Amino acid sequence: MKVLIAGGAGFIGSTIASRLLDHGHQPVILDNLVTGRREFCDGRPLYVGDIADAAILDRIFDDHPDITAVVHCAALIVVPESVERPIHYYRENVSKTLEFADHLLGKGVSRFLFSSSAAIYEPAADFSVDENSGVRPQSPYARTKWIVEQMLSDISASTPLRVLSLRYFNPIGADPKMRTGLQAPSPTHALGKLVEAYRAGRPFAVTGLDYPTRDGSGIRDYVHVWDLAAAHVRALEAFDALFGGQGSRSMAINLGTGTGTTVLEFVDAFNKVVDVPVAVEAAPRRPGDSAGAYTRSTRAGEVLRWRAERTVEDGIRDSLAWFERRGKVLPDLADRD
Ligand SMILES: NC(=O)c1ccc[n+]([C@@H]2O[C@H](COP(=O)([O-])OP(=O)(O)OC[C@H]3O[C@@H](n4cnc5c(N)ncnc54)[C@H](O)[C@@H]3O)[C@@H](O)[C@H]2O)c1
Repeated sequence: MKVLIAGGAGFIGSTIASRLLDHGHQPVILDNLVTGRREFCDGRPLYVGDIADAAILDRIFDDHPDITAVVHCAALIVVPESVERPIHYYRENVSKTLEFADHLLGKGVSRFLFSSSAAIYEPAADFSVDENSGVRPQSPYARTKWIVEQMLSDISASTPLRVLSLRYFNPIGADPKMRTGLQAPSPTHALGKLVEAYRAGRPFAVTGLDYPTRDGSGIRDYVHVWDLAAAHVRALEAFDALFGGQGSRSMAINLGTGTGTTVLEFVDAFNKVVDVPVAVEAAPRRPGDSAGAYTRSTRAGEVLRWRAERTVEDGIRDSLAWFERRGKVLPDLADRD
């Protein structure tokens, strides 16, 4: 199977590409490299350009008329930045996805996976959510994800496009073969910041200790990125069957472990893995942050026959191993590692 991965030079998209390759499939990457890395595309066809650029899509489909599905991971993802630059985020994440979907329909694409986010949910009092939970995105970033889901659902209702939105919880870890991992020089993900603090011998700033959780810190559902990638491979392989017997042409599935871990519990897990424990310090909530959530859904198991196999400790270990190796894959970041 040949699959176009938009955003395939980024953290999650490149991992999906690796897992597809390991399963004998062929990824083709489209990425404007705004945050993605050319080095993550070694050995994979890479088209450097924008998802809204019709000319580059012409070129890709001329070169690869046998592309049978598209995975759309291309987006801007930094929550506080989305608060500061909402127009930029709506343009990059929403408007460009609309153009992308329109061009793809012109190319005859009918199988579309969208990287959505658990950040769209309004959690229950216990912070658990399933796909039918209320939606109340807390930031422009999260709203772009919800708007795109709705937009794609409307498009799927009257076009050949069928859309599977995969709502990721909190990805951690790296490709176990260390081809790729978190590439952001200054990561905004909790684990990236934790590793940064560990390596610098600094305390880790817990942003918000006044949430109504068991210890006041935010709650997350940390899922290994290699498990996330497996869910995509499964979804792509079973795509037609997923939409087979039913009328619906769009569907959403939560991808998490089902276990809620508070940020302070996560730091404890981290400190069990490392030699020198990281101290924590309290910091104010960041704009757009929310208490977080974990999935209680069984849909991924029922529909995709997928469940997360790796533990939080596995994710921490793989992230640490990646940061050890990162400077070799991304030499410009060597002095930061
Ligand atoms: N990382 C998370 O915590 C998380 C959680 C839930 C959902 N997601 C979603 O998963 C997807 C991938 O996230 P990630 O963590 O890998 O981020 P990332 O920044 O590493 O990857 C995004 C990639 O998209 C590319 N890109 C952005 N805009 C583009 C455009 N207009 N045209 C072409 N390429 C473009 C970037 O260069 C980058 O390679 C995003 O859609 C994100 O919203 C991420």
